[in-house]
Amino acid sequence: MDSSREQAFDALQRLAAEEGSRDARAFFSDENDRVAAFTVQAAGLTADFSKQAVSSAARDRLVDAARASGLADAMTALAGGQPINATERRAASHMALRGTGGDAVAIRTAEAELFRVFDFAAAIRSGAHSGATGKPIRTILHIGIGGSDLGPRLVYKALMAGRDGPQIRFLASPDPGTLSRVTRELDPEETLVFIVSKSFGTAETRANALAAKAWLEAGLGGRDPAPHLAAASASPGAAAEFGVPREAVFDMWDWVGGRYSLWSSVSFSVICALGPDRFRELLAGAAELDRHFLETTWDRNLPVLMGLVAYWNRSCLNRASQAVVPYAAPLALLPAWLQQLSMESLGKRVTPSGAPVPGETGAVIWGAEGPNGQHAFFQLLHQGTSIIPADLIAVVGREGPEAHNRMMLANALAQAEALLKGRTAAEARDELLAKGIGEDEADRLAPHLEMPGGRPTSFIALDTLDARCVGALLALYEHAVFVQSVLYRVNAFDQYGVELGKTLASALETELETGATGAHDPSTQAWLDRLRKQSR
Ligand code: F6P
Repeated sequence: MDSSREQAFDALQRLAAEEGSRDARAFFSDENDRVAAFTVQAAGLTADFSKQAVSSAARDRLVDAARASGLADAMTALAGGQPINATERRAASHMALRGTGGDAVAIRTAEAELFRVFDFAAAIRSGAHSGATGKPIRTILHIGIGGSDLGPRLVYKALMAGRDGPQIRFLASPDPGTLSRVTRELDPEETLVFIVSKSFGTAETRANALAAKAWLEAGLGGRDPAPHLAAASASPGAAAEFGVPREAVFDMWDWVGGRYSLWSSVSFSVICALGPDRFRELLAGAAELDRHFLETTWDRNLPVLMGLVAYWNRSCLNRASQAVVPYAAPLALLPAWLQQLSMESLGKRVTPSGAPVPGETGAVIWGAEGPNGQHAFFQLLHQGTSIIPADLIAVVGREGPEAHNRMMLANALAQAEALLKGRTAAEARDELLAKGIGEDEADRLAPHLEMPGGRPTSFIALDTLDARCVGALLALYEHAVFVQSVLYRVNAFDQYGVELGKTLASALETELETGATGAHDPSTQAWLDRLRKQSR
């Protein structure tokens, strides 16, 4: 580590040791303008980090650490399309998909491909492209997994209230019951199967694509299923070999990571359903956030602050997990999408040069929609022995009954307030007495009602649930993850950790099928023996 970096990180760790047991309640009394200082707006989003256990001094030291880590150069390299995915020697040019980063060639290539996608989507939406029997396409069966599924699935659910094209059904798992459940209500004559796989080699996607093609063939009475197939892949040859007509194969590129690819042809199904204009708005929202990220001073920079707060929680305060809780049912898939984005990007143990990273990296990301969450896991957030920072995400202007929207907003705010405020045993006892409960009973119950408080939250509000704000929200998390990766000194854009399991699964599949035996640990071997016996 060079010495300025070392000094900045030592200062940070020293401050964490001093301030680690304090929380935002203390910082609110110390810092007059804390709410304003920790509230930032950009691209239809307002984020308030003031309830996090980060003092203004810690924020300043974090900014120093980011500077000493070379964040400015890293941002320039990201936006400039340099090969920052060092292990794979590739750029990570997802910003080129929204016209704000990457080199000029990448931007032009992405834009040209998007026009192809828009043209085909327009033909499907207008009925100019019909199925083999002449019926219009009413459903897109989107087959993909991980980054080839989660992003488009989230965007579709978030914005589907405005759908004016075909519906989408998603198929990711090769679970034996899923395809038949999904296709049960579908008419193959009116369905287009869209296969998304950057590699076109992912086992689950191939299995589902083959099964869906067979379902089409059976349902089309021997007609060629080609008009019912489309694909997005960085291996267009493999897609064409599978039987997808070349004009319906859309390019992805190795300079866009799968989990950063929703801004591309990967969202062809979403574009069919919502229309090109909505998708342009999504890109525009993300682009607005990109510009904010690249141009705004770091102490007022939304993704930078979000990344610094996450780094502080994980690396300095040792908070191993982070909850993500949207107070909007259409955003219910945000935690699942973010789980891949963050955990595949930050779950690393060595630096790009192969040296061990000095501390902890990447929190466990989890969560669910707020209202149900309050009646499930919030108990642990309030009174559990671990402190779990949470992002609470609300929408200010929602369509629909005002009273329901008010209820959602009030609950989101109330949870953030309760997590911060807590309740002492004495307060709990007084409340019980005020309710007419006897002294002995109040003494017995008070410890159970005590809540420590000081539990950190970020409150993130979307002006409204439109494509622009959703695009900005997703770009916000992409950049916040990038900022963390620079501080952790890991490559955010590879994912070698998922490979070994894939290789072993393929070997085990063969062994289950043929009865052959490889070398296994005793537990795996016992399971193989048991499964073979049971399936005989
Ligand atoms: O297994 C992990 C992964 O490689 C993800 O990074 C990716 O999003 C997913 O599999 C799907 O990959 P593909 O798009 O190549 O099918």
